[in-house]
Amino acid sequence: MSDMQTIVLEDKTFDLFLESKEIKEGVKRIAGQINADYDGREVLILGVLDGAFMVLSDLLKRLDLKVSLELVKLKSYEGERSSGTIRKLTGLTSSLKDCEVVIVEDIIDTGFTLEYLIKLVNDQEPRSVKIATLLLKEEVFGDRFPIDYVGFSIPNKFVVGYGMDYNGQGRQLKHIYAVKE
Ligand code: IMP
Ligand code: MG
Repeated sequence: MSDMQTIVLEDKTFDLFLESKEIKEGVKRIAGQINADYDGREVLILGVLDGAFMVLSDLLKRLDLKVSLELVKLKSYEGERSSGTIRKLTGLTSSLKDCEVVIVEDIIDTGFTLEYLIKLVNDQEPRSVKIATLLLKEEVFGDRFPIDYVGFSIPNKFVVGYGMDYNGQGRQLKHIYAVKE
């Protein structure tokens, strides 16, 4: 199933958009930038579940730094669009005070999730906060604030695979697929 050009999930058809090999190159690029920027320092990777689990796994294996990991579970999407309200399903379990935090997202669309998370993080007085995302829907997000590490800027299309879902389906796919208009 996961090597197909086209897949069907519920009522939608999706076409192959980014192959596993390209995705891995994007993750490798981000890891290289983080390794260079934090050379000799410790980073706290703050992963945003559920969608970021695959990028987290591939990214962390490439970090040559002292790394600690915190995970939060946030939910904003219903079907193929942002509901506009963020629900925190699992929060932080340790303090971020004085930590050098890198938030890791699968995809940034409206940026509502990120804004919510940045407030949560800043309340804890970290030393620094940067943001990494595999995919950025630039047209939607605009340039409200800088995203430090971007794997790929993509058009405003709904995508699934490599951790990202449509109504809970498609997260296990190794390639990324975009909805057929
Ligand atoms: P935002 O709050 O609109 O920026 O959306 C952030 C979250 O919604 C992401 O971390 C994803 O989990 C999910 N999301 C946004 N766009 C997509 C998409 O195209 N496919 C699947 N999930 C998405
Ligand atoms: Mg996400």
